[in-house]
Amino acid sequence: MTDLEVVSGAGCVVTTRTGEDYLDFSSGIAVTSTGHCHPHVVAAIQAQAARFIHAQVNVYRHDRLAELAGRLAAISPEPIDTFFFANSGAEATEGAVKLAKQATRRPNVIVFQGSFHGRTHLTMAMTTSKTIYRAGHDPLPSGVFVAPFPHSDDDVAHCLTAVRLLLLSQTSPADTAAMVLEPVLGEGGYLPAPTAFLQGLTEICRQHGILFIADEVQSGFGRTGTMFCIEQHDLRPDIIVMAKGLASGFPISAIGASAEIMARWPPGSHGGTYGGNPIGCAAAIATIDVLTEPGFLAHVVARGEQLRAGLRALAAQHSGIVDVRGPGLMVASEFADATRVGPVLTHCLREGRLILMNAGTFGNVVRWMPPLVVTEAEIDQALAAFGRALAATG
Ligand SMILES: Cc1ncc(COP(=O)(O)O)c(C=O)c1O
Repeated sequence: MTDLEVVSGAGCVVTTRTGEDYLDFSSGIAVTSTGHCHPHVVAAIQAQAARFIHAQVNVYRHDRLAELAGRLAAISPEPIDTFFFANSGAEATEGAVKLAKQATRRPNVIVFQGSFHGRTHLTMAMTTSKTIYRAGHDPLPSGVFVAPFPHSDDDVAHCLTAVRLLLLSQTSPADTAAMVLEPVLGEGGYLPAPTAFLQGLTEICRQHGILFIADEVQSGFGRTGTMFCIEQHDLRPDIIVMAKGLASGFPISAIGASAEIMARWPPGSHGGTYGGNPIGCAAAIATIDVLTEPGFLAHVVARGEQLRAGLRALAAQHSGIVDVRGPGLMVASEFADATRVGPVLTHCLREGRLILMNAGTFGNVVRWMPPLVVTEAEIDQALAAFGRALAATG
């Protein structure tokens, strides 16, 4: 996305080899939830590195593992209380599908148009945000069926009908293990799923014994103003996939499910050498400490409102922006013309020292995902840089 060579980061700012500071509103793709090098997270990593760097979970148990599982159980929606740890979002998403297959003894999954679930072979087959992620890798695993994702409340009924049609015509309920869904499409354009759609899907799942998997890799850990986005829809997912913001940048991911579902996964049928790494667990525990501080999520909500209000004001002043949307600090500004996005991002980078990224199948969305600790002044600074870019490229 940029040609920057960075040497350090603190909060929302990264510093280059030549000593320039940039406002990092990419958060390393929605990862540095507590900002770059939050002192509490750094201290936890340093302390844990001196105690144990690797304590392989098949060989022995380490204290940080149970502690992290307990902390995650406390913040996860019911009935999620049991966790499997992995290293990346794709690994956890693929693991969640393996779990669903084992738990239901069914072979297929349903995913939604525009989703991004990762770049392993199965998660590539589940990814339809852009062909670039799949091209050149065929044949991809079978057993993945794609249903439409609603772009507005008006689309909900038709999209639910399409899911029912899929179950009648392509993958019968008896063959369908799970539906896997991002509550807000990430790579697909920061598009929130309407509540009525999510509730309709879970109803269909319950009716047919299909598991509902929420891929909260990008939307989880406070990003949308609640710990998990799914909470805002009053839903009880069977499985949640977690990564990115979980440990402020240390590579660790998790699959959460009820103990009852996890028990249907035969021991040894899934695992990995590094999953549940003690330093990753320590980083995640420290991250959860920060995210659960009183007022933290209210701060995310307030900064999100500030950002959306500022973007809507800019959209009223400058032509070209057709929509501003997204919960918390998972915000999109959508352009009518995708060719405008590149010049806007370049202007922000070069003239505003602001790092932003695009999203969407058509590449016409600028996504705003600053660290959740972003200040009011930093949001204002970013909006000013974006406004100058709109003026210069209009
Ligand atoms: C919703 C979602 N799921 C899964 C993934 C894959 O995560 P990773 O890149 O850590 O494999 C991503 C990454 O962007 C994501 O946004």
